[in-house]
Amino acid sequence: MGCQSVVELGCGTGKNTLLLSQIAEKVYAIDFSASMIAKAKQKVTSANVTFTTGDITKPWTCESESVDLIVCNLVLEHLEDLSFIFSEVFRVLAQGEYFFISELHPFRQYRGTQANFQRDQEMIEIPAFVRHLSDFFSAAKNQGFRLEQFQKWWHQQDQNQPLRLASFLFRK
Ligand SMILES: C[S@@+](CC[C@H](N)C(=O)[O-])C[C@H]1O[C@@H](n2cnc3c(N)ncnc32)[C@H](O)[C@@H]1O
Repeated sequence: MGCQSVVELGCGTGKNTLLLSQIAEKVYAIDFSASMIAKAKQKVTSANVTFTTGDITKPWTCESESVDLIVCNLVLEHLEDLSFIFSEVFRVLAQGEYFFISELHPFRQYRGTQANFQRDQEMIEIPAFVRHLSDFFSAAKNQGFRLEQFQKWWHQQDQNQPLRLASFLFRK
């Protein structure tokens, strides 16, 4: 799949940004952490990628109906208000275009699994909100999105463990 312009929400250190730069003419990658953006810029130097420091819970500066794909990986669990994000995504996407989300599967969250990182030997947990699958479906339906695809993901070593990730492809 190729597209003209992609917005990546919460790009972090740019783990997925390089791939996006290969399938899109222009990538706008946003994160509110300046240090994450600095790492991402070291990793991804493609000329068609623009990194921006910004808070996606505040009104976006993107023009309405200007983007072909919006992607977001392991970000929404950290945001309290899903409906705001879905309404901005719906506004900014061109008609017929796509919103791809990948998140920790609720089954993992119910077990208490939470995003974390290590700082000086200490494991720091990042605040997260437990989400049910219906939270995503409702937030999307309320804006007028259609569900194109829903998938669940796990690793080989996850035998007998709850599912790891859930992904959603919504279409405007
Ligand atoms: C678990 S990391 C995932 C990073 C990247 N998407 C990945 O898959 O590697 C979550 C990211 O969301 C960013 N983030 C959280 N809340 C945000 C907000 N309100 N606005 C912008 N970025 C945000 C964090 O700074 C962090 O980089």
